[in-house]
Amino acid sequence: MNPSLRREYLAALRLETWAVRGTAASASPQRVAAPADSPADMARQPVAAPQAAVPNAGVARDVSAGREAGLDWPELQARVAGCTRCTLCNTRTQTVFGVGNRQAQWLIVGEAPGAEEDRRGEPFVGRAGQLLNSMLRAIGLTREQVYIANVLKCRPPGNRDPTAGEAAECLPYLEQQIALLKPKVLLAVGRIAAQNLLHTDLTLGRLRQQVHRFGLSQVPLVATYHPAYLLRTPADKRKAWEDLKFAREVCARV
Ligand code: URA
Repeated sequence: MNPSLRREYLAALRLETWAVRGTAASASPQRVAAPADSPADMARQPVAAPQAAVPNAGVARDVSAGREAGLDWPELQARVAGCTRCTLCNTRTQTVFGVGNRQAQWLIVGEAPGAEEDRRGEPFVGRAGQLLNSMLRAIGLTREQVYIANVLKCRPPGNRDPTAGEAAECLPYLEQQIALLKPKVLLAVGRIAAQNLLHTDLTLGRLRQQVHRFGLSQVPLVATYHPAYLLRTPADKRKAWEDLKFAREVCARV
């Protein structure tokens, strides 16, 4: 069996292997909106073009083997709304499915809804969401052009980190969103999102500035800092800006 396919099957069975992948990115051009001015506090720095082949931190699960495979958008949304697969259903106000353009080339994936998101039913609507919007604008994208979702569809009480069990129960929903959306690039914002999507314990510092691949579809995945972290650590906005430009380059090469 083709070694790459074998790894995917193993990953689908959660018998994950760790290997350096050498998948070359194709080079067909893609339309990207002209970059707008970045926010004043986001430093401009040139960034090297993404490498054609870079090591992958891990192989995510087989999208086609997901529990929700075959569901369309309304079916998936209804299943999420009624989900009782973990105890977060007891404390949530409502599920937070995701929002945005279903033809989007970019899928932004965060960690989990916070208090404001739990109240309003939409991801990234609090202060972190406002910064995320600014970050997107800085690379010429509006919130309406992208799709935004989280690893978890329900708020963990007190905004604690998701448990491994909660993430495992919830990830099939995101996998089916990805299967339906077929984005050109997946931007994982924050360590928790990146680690859960890539099934790795590597730090964000190790994961950023590389092209990872997600699932059988091999969607390119780029990791960057969480906007909530950037609100606390503005000095790292410059690195986030580099990551976003990197992701834009990756998207343009798909
Ligand atoms: N942080 C996240 O990771 N997701 C949200 O939706 C809001 C804050």
